[in-house]
Amino acid sequence: MKELLNKRIDIINSELKKYLSPVYPEIIYEAMGYSVFAGGKRMRPLLLLGACEAVGGNVDDALPFACAIEMIHTYTLIHDDLPAMDNDDYRRGKLTCHKKYSEDIAILAGDGLLNLAFEIMLETAASKKDFRYVDAALTIGNLCGVKGTVGGQTADLLSENKKADEKTLMYIHDKKTAALIQAALKAGAIIGGGSEEDIGRLEAIGYDMGIAFQIKDDILDITSTTEILGKPVGSDYKNNKTTYVSVFGMEKAQKDYEMLSERAARGLKDFSDNSSFLYEYSKLLTARIN
Ligand code: IPE
Ligand code: IPE
Ligand code: MG
Ligand code: MG
Ligand code: MG
Repeated sequence: MKELLNKRIDIINSELKKYLSPVYPEIIYEAMGYSVFAGGKRMRPLLLLGACEAVGGNVDDALPFACAIEMIHTYTLIHDDLPAMDNDDYRRGKLTCHKKYSEDIAILAGDGLLNLAFEIMLETAASKKDFRYVDAALTIGNLCGVKGTVGGQTADLLSENKKADEKTLMYIHDKKTAALIQAALKAGAIIGGGSEEDIGRLEAIGYDMGIAFQIKDDILDITSTTEILGKPVGSDYKNNKTTYVSVFGMEKAQKDYEMLSERAARGLKDFSDNSSFLYEYSKLLTARIN
C-alpha cells in the first residue's frame, strides 16, 4: 500500500508540474506553483484515482482530473487564508501565498488555479470525445461552486462571532469540505465507467468521509501544533468560528469522528474487487495527525 501510495503521489506531482511551468507574466505561475508544491497530502486526487480504480476503470484516464481537483483544492486554501477570510500566515508548512507574494497576486493565483482546472477537464473531454469527462467536469463544477464549496465558505464567514445552530454547522461542513471530497469520488467513478449505483454509494461514503475530515480538522485546530499541522493552530478560536467542537464539544466531536470514519471505511471494505487501495487509504486518513 505505502509503495503504491507514494507512486501515485509522485505521478500526481509530476503531472501537476507539467501544467505549471512559468511563461510571461511568470510571477502568477510562480505563485500558483508555490502553493501547489508547498506540500499537501494530495487526498482529493488520490481519492479520485482510487474511485476510478474501484469501479474497474483505468487510473491513467483519470490523471488530468486528479490534477484539476488538486488545483481547485489549492485555490480554496489560498483564498481561505486571505486577510479578508481566515487571515492565516502559514499553510502546508510555509508562508501563505499572500504572505510570500502579495494579496493581489494571491487572489489571482487562486483564480488562475480554478480556471486552469476547468481548462484541463474540458480539454480532456474535447480530445477524448467522451461524454463521461463532461459529466465528471460538471459534477466537480456543481460541487465546488455556490451549491458546494463557495456556498459553504460563505456560510462559514456568516457564522463567525455567532452561536450557529446544528443545522447551519452541518451545512458548513457538508458544503465547505465534504462536497469536494464527494466530487473527487464521484468524478473518479464517472470516469471509470461506474454504474449509477456505484456512484451513489461513493457519494454517500464521501459525505461521511468529508464530515469526518472537517471534524478532525476542527479538533486538530485545538489539540495539535503548528509544526505538525503546517498551519496555525487556534485559527478557529481567533476568528470565533462555528466548528464541530464549538457546537457539540470535544467529546462528541471525537465520538462522531470515529463513527463516521468507521462507517466510511466499512462502505469501502467490500465495495468491489478493486477497492482495496481506497479502503486502505481511508484507514490512513482516519489515523492522520495533520
Ligand atoms: C485542508 O485540507 C482544508 C480542509 C478542508 C480542512 P487538507 O488537510 O487536505 O490540506 P492539504 O492538502 O493536506 O494541505
Ligand atoms: C476548510 O476550512 C475549508 C476550505 C478551505 C474550503 P478551514 O478554514 O477550517 O481550513 P483550514 O483549517 O484553514 O485548512
Ligand atoms: Mg476557513
Ligand atoms: Mg482556514
Ligand atoms: Mg480548519
